[in-house]
Amino acid sequence: MKRNDFLKTLGFGSAGLLMGESLLSSCMNHDMATMDMTTAPTVVEGAFTTILPILETITSGTALNARSQNAAIVAGKTGQVLGYKNGILGPTFRVQRGSTVTIPFTNGLSEETNIHWHGLLVPAAMDGHPSQMVTAGQSFNYTFKIDQAANMAWYHPHPHEKTGKQVFTGLAGMFIVESPEEKALNLPSDAYELPLVIQDKRLDTTGAIMYSPTLEEVMIGYMGETITVNGVSSPFQPVTTRMYRLRVLNGSNGRMYNLALSNGNSFMVIGSDGGLLPVPETVTSLLLAPGERADLLVDFSKIALNSEVYLQSNSFSGVSSQGSQTFKILKFMVNKTETDTFKMPTSLNSITPLSTASATKTRTFDIGVMMNMGSGGHGGTMAMKGMHTINGKIFNMDRIDESVALNSTEIWEFDNTNGDEPHPMHLHGTFFQVSSRTGGRGNILSHEKGLKDTVLVMPGEKVRIITKFEKVGKFVFHCHNLEHEDDGMMLNFEVK
Ligand code: C2O
Ligand code: CU
Repeated sequence: MKRNDFLKTLGFGSAGLLMGESLLSSCMNHDMATMDMTTAPTVVEGAFTTILPILETITSGTALNARSQNAAIVAGKTGQVLGYKNGILGPTFRVQRGSTVTIPFTNGLSEETNIHWHGLLVPAAMDGHPSQMVTAGQSFNYTFKIDQAANMAWYHPHPHEKTGKQVFTGLAGMFIVESPEEKALNLPSDAYELPLVIQDKRLDTTGAIMYSPTLEEVMIGYMGETITVNGVSSPFQPVTTRMYRLRVLNGSNGRMYNLALSNGNSFMVIGSDGGLLPVPETVTSLLLAPGERADLLVDFSKIALNSEVYLQSNSFSGVSSQGSQTFKILKFMVNKTETDTFKMPTSLNSITPLSTASATKTRTFDIGVMMNMGSGGHGGTMAMKGMHTINGKIFNMDRIDESVALNSTEIWEFDNTNGDEPHPMHLHGTFFQVSSRTGGRGNILSHEKGLKDTVLVMPGEKVRIITKFEKVGKFVFHCHNLEHEDDGMMLNFEVK
């Protein structure tokens, strides 16, 4: 069933929308009854007068403690959020390839949680599978060897049906892996390298984060009107007339950003989820879905001294629930002349393309069907479950959906031909290459020319990925729209 048909059967069709909304607000106790929840809430830009916070950098051994915190997302309003150390979000790990990392973790929440290391190839027992919970008040030591190329990964909770709430409320952090090969490229570093987690938030009048998705928001993803970078609304960053490296994570539940510069200048994409691309790619915009990362180079020497340029999200097409608005995210103020010593490398990384001929199996996944409504709960607020499925199935913790032979190469096809929602599909336990996209945008995009762990499949698209499964054990793959994931759009695969 398509989303629009689904809405109609519930009486949310065009004529029934108002009635449906008031019905919803009375039985689900949400206070946004006047908003059309079949589309993203309109972004309200802030003043861009708060300086961009750079999250604390930490390394192995630093303890994380998921707990309630106070933070001022909007200047002057300190509200209740969640965080892993100080304030909202978590510190940024910076570790060397080859090192062993130990992270003592305590669950200071009143419900279960855990940590998934999204973009790190860790053993299954350390991966934060939804069956590996740390109960309230308990601790767990995450420890693993960093055995992969340099990249920017991230970390966040993965409890089934509660991931959306916990991430939206503030639990997420960045994790940077460095290597000698990457160092040798002399990419902009230190003050010239900015890790940026972009998220949207919905705030109440006290500045606290609200999370209570309606039925329609389970369908389109829970989105907010306040866009934050590193935990604050509409910040600014002073820059000098040189090249900067922006390491962007879309840490939002459901909102996508079509990243661009407000003056229309081009910028370079040098990496994505799994590390550097083979060669730098020049773009004027880049659509980044929840869970995806983009490693960007922006040349501020092309911008006049004492002028401003914004990182913004341009409008985009292909989906009815979001993309109609252009909004600013982060203001850069070019305030100092500096001589740039950076030389753009002609090649960044060598990635051997996996040939489709080496694949021993092709699996197809229909991700474009909504069905299977039944009883169940969505964070306790919904009497609906399983509108989002993969091959008609919703998540079952104990069922193995796909059995994969260790070290085999496979093609997985995500088919959203009949769907009308975008689905960023994420595999744990491996990086993959995007081997084709048919329908919709119709080709492999610049930031998809390296190793990926999350790929956006827009309505009408069929995307094929290819990967070699080298980690033993039980992992999940799922849609990274966190309301879809919590609704059950997730399956298990076991490598053995
Ligand atoms: Cu970032 Cu299974 O997720
Ligand atoms: Cu989805």
